[in-house]
Amino acid sequence: MALTKLCALLSVVLVLSSSTSVQGLVHYPPANTSITDLTAVLNGHGAPGIYNTSHTPDDEYGIYNWCNMPHVRKTEYKVPSKEYSLKYLEVIQRHRKRTPYASNTFFKEDITWDCTDEGPYHYAKDKSKFKTTPIYWQAETGTQNPFEYTVGPGFVNSTCQFPDITSEGLEDSKQHGQDFRGVYGDLLQFLPLSWEKNKYQFRVTNNVITTQTLSGFAAGIYPDVDEYFAYIQSDSYDSLEPALSCSLAETVVGTYQGPNTTWSSHLDLTSALSARFRNVSGIEPNDTAGWNTSWDHPYDNLSAKQCHSKPLPCSVNDTSICIGQEDANEIYRLGNWEYAYRWRGAENSTLYSTLIMGPWFKELQGHFKNHLANANQIKYYHNFAHDESISAVLGVLQIDEPVWPGMGSEIVFELWENTSNKTNHIRVLWRGQPLKTSTPLGTIDMLPLDTFLSYLNETIADDLVGLCASG
Ligand SMILES: *[C@@H]1O[C@H](CO)[C@@H](O)[C@H](O)[C@H]1NC(C)=O
Ligand SMILES: *[C@@H]1O[C@H](CO)[C@@H](O)[C@H](O)[C@H]1NC(C)=O
Ligand SMILES: *[C@@H]1O[C@H](CO)[C@@H](O)[C@H](O)[C@H]1NC(C)=O
Ligand SMILES: *[C@@H]1O[C@H](CO)[C@@H](O)[C@H](O)[C@H]1NC(C)=O
Ligand SMILES: *[C@@H]1O[C@H](CO)[C@@H](O)[C@H](O)[C@H]1NC(C)=O
Ligand SMILES: *[C@@H]1O[C@H](CO)[C@@H](O)[C@H](O)[C@H]1NC(C)=O
Ligand SMILES: *[C@@H]1O[C@H](CO)[C@@H](O)[C@H](O)[C@H]1NC(C)=O
Ligand SMILES: *[C@@H]1O[C@H](CO)[C@@H](O)[C@H](O)[C@H]1NC(C)=O
Ligand SMILES: *[C@@H]1O[C@H](CO)[C@@H](O)[C@H](O)[C@H]1NC(C)=O
Ligand SMILES: *[C@@H]1O[C@H](CO)[C@@H](O)[C@H](O)[C@H]1NC(C)=O
Ligand SMILES: *[C@@H]1O[C@H](CO)[C@@H](O)[C@H](O)[C@H]1NC(C)=O
Ligand SMILES: *[C@@H]1O[C@H](CO)[C@@H](O)[C@H](O)[C@H]1NC(C)=O
Repeated sequence: MALTKLCALLSVVLVLSSSTSVQGLVHYPPANTSITDLTAVLNGHGAPGIYNTSHTPDDEYGIYNWCNMPHVRKTEYKVPSKEYSLKYLEVIQRHRKRTPYASNTFFKEDITWDCTDEGPYHYAKDKSKFKTTPIYWQAETGTQNPFEYTVGPGFVNSTCQFPDITSEGLEDSKQHGQDFRGVYGDLLQFLPLSWEKNKYQFRVTNNVITTQTLSGFAAGIYPDVDEYFAYIQSDSYDSLEPALSCSLAETVVGTYQGPNTTWSSHLDLTSALSARFRNVSGIEPNDTAGWNTSWDHPYDNLSAKQCHSKPLPCSVNDTSICIGQEDANEIYRLGNWEYAYRWRGAENSTLYSTLIMGPWFKELQGHFKNHLANANQIKYYHNFAHDESISAVLGVLQIDEPVWPGMGSEIVFELWENTSNKTNHIRVLWRGQPLKTSTPLGTIDMLPLDTFLSYLNETIADDLVGLCASG
């Protein structure tokens, strides 16, 4: 173990109140990489991966592709030795590539997005009486409603929702479903059959883009099924989105992203880039919608375009002033650094991650337990979520090389039984391969289940509701 890690072992023992202590939580810093080292980010060149296509060449599969992250596929999958038998499978993944969020668009844009005949379905099912007609949404624009012209998003005459999974994003999702079936169906013969609906379960968040992503994935994994239901929790406590009320989480992140931190210095050090971006976007320097507190919005704005082979934007007032590729690349490096800092680099990022996705981990543990108690229960559970959900799961597990999880990012939890001595083991796959952590667990590859559960017990507070309220 490196010296820096030993130092970090001087544990962050948090005793916030007698009932809400997290006694065992230790932050193990991530590896020093071109993404976690701010100097390397500021002085670097090029994009930290692929940003302009969903296609990754086969001989490089596994590298970072923001538009379509690597996932398990037959060609790269490592089948464990014969003494192990797969018992339970749970997946959490990010949605697919999409149009930008309305909040991340410029007031006026110089390109269009077309979603004609691609809108999301919104209709009521009536099982008992009659078959209702599926209805989908299509944005209406160019109307006589004068208020239409007073707000963004600035994409003229667009038929899309912002956000919306695009048709290319749906194709990527279908391919993902086919690849997944290739491993857990064809290769391991583990997946339930499509009609065994009591053995598998899908779950989505309150943001419709996760349901849209599932609709593509389902067509790939079980093409013969007409209709599914997906679980969804109330938007007041949805643990998957996650949309939980946790004032301590806000306090904790507000402190390490506040004044006089590495976070504030990265903003100061990039003010020239920020001025160039403002010149093109027309975003005012006094904008309060988040454009000047992080690189998140510019990153989303530019990467959504490039992933769909659209050009980088130019100023609507002077088309000779545009965002250059080198500036875009720097924004992509900065976005990755920001995620790495928020979810892994900052000392309190592990605490923050447990406050954000701790409840979901409790559900995961419950699923393991249910399945071990009764093997006829659900054996494959698939969660469709967001970048923050994925980042916080990786934050809890303390990934060694953090990145901003790109489109379709997938984490697989495999529960295996050693058939010779009947012991249970965990393998976690990220980018299709066993996950390397900075913790004493090392790479989570056939770790005894109890070791894994003890780590979660030590790291995630028992009383999350009380702890959240204590902030
Ligand atoms: C990370 O590595 C770079 C170059 O390899 C080095 O200059 C820098 O000091 C390292 N940072 C830390 C925190 O170890
Ligand atoms: C995509 O970006 C890479 C550099 O990251 C570049 O070499 C390539 O030409 C670009 N492709 C297109 C179609 O723009
Ligand atoms: C990016 O931001 C600019 C400036 O606000 C806006 O004009 C544009 O519509 C946005 N584009 C995307 C793809 O979000
Ligand atoms: C938007 O639609 C209006 C009405 O159909 C049309 O006059 C205008 O040229 C369109 N604008 C763009 C940029 O396509
Ligand atoms: C982490 O957050 C807790 C709760 O807000 C705070 O008491 C503690 O000082 C923070 N630790 C660091 C290293 O900032
Ligand atoms: C930031 O640090 C400087 C010098 O270290 C200090 O003068 C200033 O009060 C600090 N500001 C805040 C908001 O903590
Ligand atoms: C902004 O654009 C103007 C031209 O309209 C140019 O003179 C100025 O240098 C640009 N500023 C930055 C920071 O790029
Ligand atoms: C274009 O000009 C208008 C009016 O002067 C201004 O409000 C807007 O911010 C400018 N947009 C850009 C991208 O500079
Ligand atoms: C962001 O905008 C606020 C409000 O105008 C301002 O106080 C702050 O200095 C700006 N921050 C940066 C990094 O530009
Ligand atoms: C931001 O500054 C511009 C002038 O530069 C002003 O017109 C606008 O009202 C200001 N917006 C806010 C939210 O203060
Ligand atoms: C069971 O077998 C596995 C694989 O050989 C081994 O790693 C593990 O330590 C064994 N566990 C017990 C309790 O014997
Ligand atoms: C984890 O904690 C729960 C409840 O606090 C306890 O029942 C369980 O035995 C613990 N598991 C491990 C492996 O420590």
